[in-house]
Amino acid sequence: MKVGFFDSGLGGLTVLKEAIENENLNEEIYYLADTKNTPYGVKDEKLVKGLIEDNIKYLVDIGCNPIVIACNTATSLSIEYLRKKYENIIFIGTEPAVKVAADTHMDKKIIVFATSITIRQEKLLKLVEKLDIQDEVELIAADKLVEFAEDANCNNLNKEVEEYLKSLISGYDLTEFSHIVLGCTHFPLFYKNIQNVIDEICPKNNIKIVDGAKGISKNLINKISKLDNKNSTNNSIHIVTTSVSKVFELRSKQILGNQKLQFEYKLQ
Ligand code: DGL
Repeated sequence: MKVGFFDSGLGGLTVLKEAIENENLNEEIYYLADTKNTPYGVKDEKLVKGLIEDNIKYLVDIGCNPIVIACNTATSLSIEYLRKKYENIIFIGTEPAVKVAADTHMDKKIIVFATSITIRQEKLLKLVEKLDIQDEVELIAADKLVEFAEDANCNNLNKEVEEYLKSLISGYDLTEFSHIVLGCTHFPLFYKNIQNVIDEICPKNNIKIVDGAKGISKNLINKISKLDNKNSTNNSIHIVTTSVSKVFELRSKQILGNQKLQFEYKLQ
């Protein structure tokens, strides 16, 4: 079975990593990253919708099913449209793990870091409304983290990343908060930096940082287990990019560790 993963860039690898390492995903995997157009979150929504449609068509055309939209931005903009367009494809989306936080926040407040597009979409606003936590949630656009993640020099940017994070949360009294939800698949790459910053600003805090990778991976494995063609004979990981990017290749090896990766391109 060919399983597709899609993100604007490296972020979806945090989901793929979780699925492989902790949920034993073992299939023919095609991870498509729109490296030519990343980041999505700060671009025009109509333009981004077109890019998503074009990239998903590629995964469908090479026979991927299911397809994980390992990107909150793409999920919030397009998953409903894609499900209608491709009725036979199983799409697994990504949405900020707000529910996980809401279930255990004990009247404290919740910060959601996401891209500007995700924060504006009805999908997230409706979820917050449905959980009836409108007054307890702060939605914060943290688009620059995507840029930091895609930078070749990312591992040496701790100081810049932490300064940026401080600028985002310095106006809040963190003692009032119980959770920081990472509503973009790039953000778990900065888990440590986020922890450092909250520890510095608010020592002895009990703030939990949550992301959706585990939930998405479990959902994927559950869906695969219900399909007939579940036995792959050709287990492999294909990393497909929309530009030739040595930086992406290097960073994806760093993130996925010792997995054997095959690099391919979708240049049109
Ligand atoms: N990883 C993405 C997300 O989850 C996309 C970020 C971007 O391209 O701005 O939203």
